[in-house]
Amino acid sequence: MKKRILTGIQTTAEQFHLWNYFGAVRPMLELAKDPNNEVFLFTANMHSFTVVQDWDALRKNTLNALKLFLAVSPTPETFFIYNPAMVPAHAQLTWVTLCLTNMWVLERMHAFKDKVQKWKQNEASVGLFTYPSLMAMDILLYDANNVPVWKDQKQHVEYTRDLAMKFNRIYGETFVIPEAVIQKDVAIVPGIDGQKMSKSKNNYIWLLDTEKQILKRVKQIATDAKRIEDPKNPDECNVYNILKLFLSPEENISIRKRYIDWGLSYKEVKDYLYEKIIEFVIPIQQKFDAISDEEVKKMLQINAKKANEIATKKVDEVYKKIGFIL
Ligand code: ADP
Ligand code: TRP
Repeated sequence: MKKRILTGIQTTAEQFHLWNYFGAVRPMLELAKDPNNEVFLFTANMHSFTVVQDWDALRKNTLNALKLFLAVSPTPETFFIYNPAMVPAHAQLTWVTLCLTNMWVLERMHAFKDKVQKWKQNEASVGLFTYPSLMAMDILLYDANNVPVWKDQKQHVEYTRDLAMKFNRIYGETFVIPEAVIQKDVAIVPGIDGQKMSKSKNNYIWLLDTEKQILKRVKQIATDAKRIEDPKNPDECNVYNILKLFLSPEENISIRKRYIDWGLSYKEVKDYLYEKIIEFVIPIQQKFDAISDEEVKKMLQINAKKANEIATKKVDEVYKKIGFIL
């Protein structure tokens, strides 16, 4: 039996920045290379609706995310890409999760508390509050074994596990207990201001940025005031911390040596980073441009059929066990 690895990526922005790719998409590409794995990747646009309620934006974000999944994957056939909004079972079973979850369990969720703190209390929707219950069903519907997520999502996966165990205990074996795979080996990727690269901080470099935009962003990366003749610590340098994502082990050793030795200017290292980003993004952008909206919609129709086949069985099983249908 193949191991089923499943994750969703939010569509809260028009496209992906470098961190979204290196932190979330690339690990899935790596996992898809192993023939023992089966990788399910989806656009979490029902989740994004908790914050993005402009229909043009949500539609565009979803379409772009799907095209980017296809554009970055050298073998899209090893990925099963779908849109849960085309699978009614997500919403159908979320009602069950909500009824089986005590209020206090959701009240202590860090992700909710963080978001509410950033906004005014009364701006948070009930959907945002119950977001983990939808996420739990995204996972349990498909019998996922592993769920790769960044550490801020760990609590949501733990809640999913508790819920699955509780259900199995009360109603009999129904759900596979998933395990979170926390991507701790991927360090925080800094944005151009040195803080964590984030959509909300305007410090990102998008995968679809033009050469001109990338050049501007790279020039803006904050550095210290060390001179050419000063030895430098690469690990403390924002330029290096982005650059290292693109380097082979040999290139990495060689540039680290240049930092520690004499004679490296930030201008030189920024030029190097610019070249590396361009070399990386151009083929992705070319593939992205070649994918038509129709192609994406067709893929979604086909894949929704398979997703519905899996998910509907689960709904039937659950609805029968809990006494909804006879
Ligand atoms: P953003 O911070 O850009 O709004 P999201 O909220 O969509 O991104 O974050 C997606 C996931 O990636 C979250 O789990 C978040 O903690 C993680 N993440 C986002 N940016 C970074 C970063 N620069 N380095 C490490 N993890 C990040
Ligand atoms: N909540 C996740 C995030 O913000 C996205 C997500 C939605 C997800 N459903 C999921 C991740 C199911 C893994 C499994 O990053």
